[in-house]
Amino acid sequence: MITLIANIFISSFFLVNFMDCSRFFNDCQNIKSSGPLTPKGIRLTSNSTTSQDIVITWYTENMASEPKVLYSENPTLLNNITITPSMQYVDITYLYTAYLSNLESNHTYFYQVSSDSSNVRETLNFTTTIERNTNVLKFLMFGDSRTNRTVRQKIAEKVVSSFDDIDFTIHTGDIVANGRNQTQWNNYFEDIEILSKIIPGYYIEGNHEHTDGKMYENIYLPSNGMNSYYYSFSLGPIKFIGLNTNRDEGIQTSWLESELKLADQDNETFWKIAYMHEPIFNSMVGRSDLSDLIPTWCPLFEQYGIDLVFAGHNHYYERSYPMNNLKEFDSDSLYEFNNPSNPMYFITGGAGAPLYTRGGSNPDYTAYYNSTYHFIVIEVQVDDVKEETTLILETWAMPENAGVFGDIYLIDKITITKKGALLNIDYPNKNNLFGQNAPEFNVTFSKRNLDPTWYSINSTWYTIDSGLTNFTFENGVGTIDQLVWDTKPNGTVNIQFFANDTLGVIYSNEVTVQKDIIAPQISINLPIMNQTFGEDAPIFNITIKDANLIAMWYSLDGGLTNIIFTINGSINQIEWNKFPNGIVVITFFANDSMGNVAYQEIIVTKYISEPNNGLIPYDLYLRFIITITVITIIVLFSIIIISWRKNLFQFPLRKDL
Ligand SMILES: [Fe+2]
Repeated sequence: MITLIANIFISSFFLVNFMDCSRFFNDCQNIKSSGPLTPKGIRLTSNSTTSQDIVITWYTENMASEPKVLYSENPTLLNNITITPSMQYVDITYLYTAYLSNLESNHTYFYQVSSDSSNVRETLNFTTTIERNTNVLKFLMFGDSRTNRTVRQKIAEKVVSSFDDIDFTIHTGDIVANGRNQTQWNNYFEDIEILSKIIPGYYIEGNHEHTDGKMYENIYLPSNGMNSYYYSFSLGPIKFIGLNTNRDEGIQTSWLESELKLADQDNETFWKIAYMHEPIFNSMVGRSDLSDLIPTWCPLFEQYGIDLVFAGHNHYYERSYPMNNLKEFDSDSLYEFNNPSNPMYFITGGAGAPLYTRGGSNPDYTAYYNSTYHFIVIEVQVDDVKEETTLILETWAMPENAGVFGDIYLIDKITITKKGALLNIDYPNKNNLFGQNAPEFNVTFSKRNLDPTWYSINSTWYTIDSGLTNFTFENGVGTIDQLVWDTKPNGTVNIQFFANDTLGVIYSNEVTVQKDIIAPQISINLPIMNQTFGEDAPIFNITIKDANLIAMWYSLDGGLTNIIFTINGSINQIEWNKFPNGIVVITFFANDSMGNVAYQEIIVTKYISEPNNGLIPYDLYLRFIITITVITIIVLFSIIIISWRKNLFQFPLRKDL
C-alpha cells in the first residue's frame, strides 16, 4: 500500500512537471532547487518603443553570488551570450534585471536564468514578433489582477494552454493590491510566471500601485512619455498609447496629441489603441470616473481616429458602441463594424479583483456588459490586396464556482473592418463642419509591402461631385477648390479621394462633411412692435433656428452693449433703466459655429409711469385734459373779448344816432 501511494505521488509529481515543461520546450532538468536562491517571478517586458528589446526581471530571497542570463537562438544554449544583470535590494528580496538588446525580429530566443551553478532555472524561450509591416499581430488585454491569487494563476494558465500565438500582453492596472509591498509584487509574478516568462508584458499604473509604490522597480517599460508613467509603442500595424490616470492627466494631453500626430504621419500605422486604468465613461453608479477628461482627451481620440480605448478599475467587462463623446453612438450593428468613425470604450477589470455587480440597466452607449473573470484576445490582420485591415476582438470568461474554475468560454466577439486602408484620410473627419471657406485636407498613402522599384503614386486627385470634376493635388495635402465648394448647397458633402500607382491600381477613400452657410433664423414673438412699457424691462420671447447655433445676444444701443442669453426672459433691467421715455430699439443677434451671424430688430416705447392698459398713458391723458382746458379757456376769453369789442364799437354809433 505504501509503495502504491509512493508511486502515485511520484507519478503525479512528474506528470505535473511534464505538463509544465513540455509546452514551451522548457528544460526542467535544469531546475536544481527551489530554495531562497532560486530565481522566481520571471517576467519579460520591453522598454522599446518600436521593437522587442526584451527586459528579463526576477527575484531571489537571498542574494545570488553569480546571477546571470544566458541566451541563444539554439535550444541547447549553444553559442550563448551571457549577461550579468543589475541587482537591487528591495525590502526583503533581491531584484535582478537583464537587458537583451538588438534582438532580431521574428526570432525565437532561448534563455536561462540562474543565481549560481546550483540554482538554475529551466531553459525558457520567447519569440520576438515584430517587424513593423507584419500583417498579423495578436495580443492580450486584462486588468485588475490584485487580490485573488488563484484567479490570476488560473487566467495565466488558461491563456497559455489555449493560445500559442500571442505576441504580448497589456495590463490595464491595479496589478497588485498594495504597490508599496514588495511581497505582493513577488507573489504576482510568481502567480503569472507561466505566462510572463514566455510572453512580454506591458503595464500601466493603477491606483493600487500607488505613485510612491515599487512598480517601476519591478517592471521596465518604454520611457518616451514621462519616465514610464505614460508611454507609447508601435508594433505591427498598431500604435499603442498607455495613459496614466493615477498621475496628472492635464500634462499628458499635449503629449497625447503629439503621439497621435506622429501616428498619423506613419504609413505603417493602421490602428490606434489607448489604454489607462480608470475609465473616462463610467457606468457604475457611485464609482469615480474621469468624466472631466471628456472635453480634453475624447476630442483627440475622435479627431485622430483612436479605434479602441481600454480601461479597468471597475471589476467587470463592458464594451461600448463606437461613440462620440456620449453624443452619437452607432448602434446599427452589435458585433460587426465597418469603418467606424468613433472609438469604442472597453472596461476590462476581471483578472483577480473582487467582481463588481454594476446594477441598474445598461447606459445607452453600452453594447455588452458581463461581470465575470475574463481576459481579451485581439488579433489584427492586414490584407494589402483587398486594401483592408481587420481587428477581431474576443473576450473569454473564466467561470468559477466555489473556488473551482471551469473551461474558458467566449462571451463577446466583434469584428472591425476598415476598407480603403491604404489611403487614409487624416483630415477632415466624418461630419466635420465647414462654412463658406472650403475645407483643407490631409491624406496619407501606405506603401506597405510594395516594392519601391515598382510603386509610386503618380497621380492623386479628389472629387466632390461623384467624379464629374477631378482635381489633382500633391503630397497628400491641399484645400478643396473654392469655386466647386461654393456650388454645394447647405448640408452633406461627400469628398472622395483617389490615388493610382504605376501599375494602374486605384485606391480610394471618402469622407462625409457638413456644410453650413445659412445664418440663424430669428423670429421675435415678444415684445410686439411699438408696444409700450413702463419702468419694468420688457419680457422677450424669440425663436432661433440653426442646427449649429452657438450664441444669442441682444443690444439696446446698437451693439455698444451686448447682453448674451441662453433662454428667453426679461431684458436686462439695468440696461433698460439707462433709457429715458421714448422709443427704444431692441436688436437680437445669433451666430452659428461657422460664423454666420443674423439679427432682428423690434421697436418699443418707454414711459416711466405705468402704462394705462396699453392704450393711453395717464400722463398723456392728463396733458390732453390740461391742453383742452387751456384751449377752452382761451376760446371763452376770446369770445368775451370779441363780444366786448363789438359792444364798444356799437356804443358810439348809438351815440351818434
Ligand atoms: Fe483601480
